[in-house]
Amino acid sequence: MGKKLTISSIKKAKGVQPLVMITAYDALFAKLVSESADMILVGDSLNMSFAGKSDTISATLPQMIYHVNAVCAGAPESFVVADMPFGTYITKEDALKNSIEMFQQTQADCVKIEGGEDKSEIVAHLTSNGIAVCGHIGLLPQSVRSEGGYKVKGKTQEEKEQLIKDAKAIESAGAFCMVLEGCKADVAKEVAESVSIPVIGIGAGVDVDGQVLVFSDMLGLFEDFVPKFVKKYLDGATLVKDALQNYATEVQNKTFPKEEHTY
Ligand code: KIV
Repeated sequence: MGKKLTISSIKKAKGVQPLVMITAYDALFAKLVSESADMILVGDSLNMSFAGKSDTISATLPQMIYHVNAVCAGAPESFVVADMPFGTYITKEDALKNSIEMFQQTQADCVKIEGGEDKSEIVAHLTSNGIAVCGHIGLLPQSVRSEGGYKVKGKTQEEKEQLIKDAKAIESAGAFCMVLEGCKADVAKEVAESVSIPVIGIGAGVDVDGQVLVFSDMLGLFEDFVPKFVKKYLDGATLVKDALQNYATEVQNKTFPKEEHTY
């Protein structure tokens, strides 16, 4: 990757060049991801693929700060989006206090918060106090328990109208871009066309302003559940398991270590 993107260059990318966002949770993968991604998202999805929980709800602010720090250390030249975990932005005051903590304790370039029209006051409070915000509308993983599952959005006229209202409200509140997750592709296109800031899709079809995927999904490392929208660019789990089994076999039959690995 070339020079680190800025809020302004990200906004200018709309309609010019699709944005590439990939998640990372640690320095090792952040360094690898930084070579291809315009933006690195330290998503609270780490609570599932990294911490082994069944959803994102129990991720905490100290945990997210720890992982954002690791990512910033591994990819100091990348634009880093820090996901604010569940329960940390219920009121305007909490949202600002917790986002300030994220900004002061890490080098994150912005925070990401889930919600549309209902969160627009909070987004406005953050952006007017120097915190750059990436919105997140559509399917909201932090609402999985209250919604009774992961529900694709944009299936009815009412849902479509609400998504467009959400996108416009988040834009008016000062967000510089937003993630649109789990949305019918034709509706996602209309949502992206309804605002002048980039809409980065995940499970939202191709007619948006960029894409985001969770690195452990796209590299085939997370085997528990593979959503329809994920393309596996690598069969990582098989490759890793084969390599580990080779090592185990060589330890057992004493073909490792060899002369060249020995002092
Ligand atoms: O937590 C995460 O990784 C996310 C993506 C699914 C967009 O929010």
